[in-house]
Amino acid sequence: MQERIQELMQKGEIRLDSGLVLPKQVAGLFEAVGWKEEASWPAEVIESAFNIHALARVTALTKDNRLVGMCRANGDGGYYVSLWNFVVHPDYQGKGLGKLLFGRLLKEVRQKIPGPELTLWGYPKEEMIPFYKSFGLIPPPKLGLVSNKLNP
Ligand SMILES: CC(C)(COP(=O)(O)OP(=O)(O)OC[C@H]1O[C@@H](n2cnc3c(N)ncnc32)[C@H](O)[C@@H]1OP(=O)(O)O)[C@@H](O)C(=O)NCCC(=O)NCCS
Repeated sequence: MQERIQELMQKGEIRLDSGLVLPKQVAGLFEAVGWKEEASWPAEVIESAFNIHALARVTALTKDNRLVGMCRANGDGGYYVSLWNFVVHPDYQGKGLGKLLFGRLLKEVRQKIPGPELTLWGYPKEEMIPFYKSFGLIPPPKLGLVSNKLNP
């Protein structure tokens, strides 16, 4: 029987944190779930996105400080916030850790932007939509725009 995340936390095996991340550990976690493109991001890009410019970030660390879960939110300085890089290490998946991390991230964002103007954006995997819906996030009513090949 798999141990649930609450038991691991009670035993002190895993803890949640909102502190700064080590870029090398973030890259290692991307690698662990097969996200090769993100795993090759330069350390300064990870430092910028996760540490300098994140509005909120939640991580899961083992007792020997190994990063095994993370997600982050980045804001525009106003009401718009995007959610990124939600990952749990395969060794810890299916135990409820993802649910805990994501819920904590939303709570932290809510504390920073408490009003009804807050708008969250995400770019999820299709099969994950029921998970996000359970937190009140719904697919957008109209098509957006996205590009990673901008050619002005
Ligand atoms: C997605 C991910 C972060 C979930 O973490 P986790 O710790 O395994 O999640 P939990 O154990 O808290 O499960 C929460 C719920 O999400 C669902 N879920 C988890 N992974 C899922 C997947 N790949 N597809 C669909 N649903 C999934 C579970 O069924 C569970 O639902 P339940 O509570 O009704 O049983 C983890 O599987 C992961 O890192 N995957 C690879 C990276 C990724 O795909 N990130 C998300 C991008 S949108």
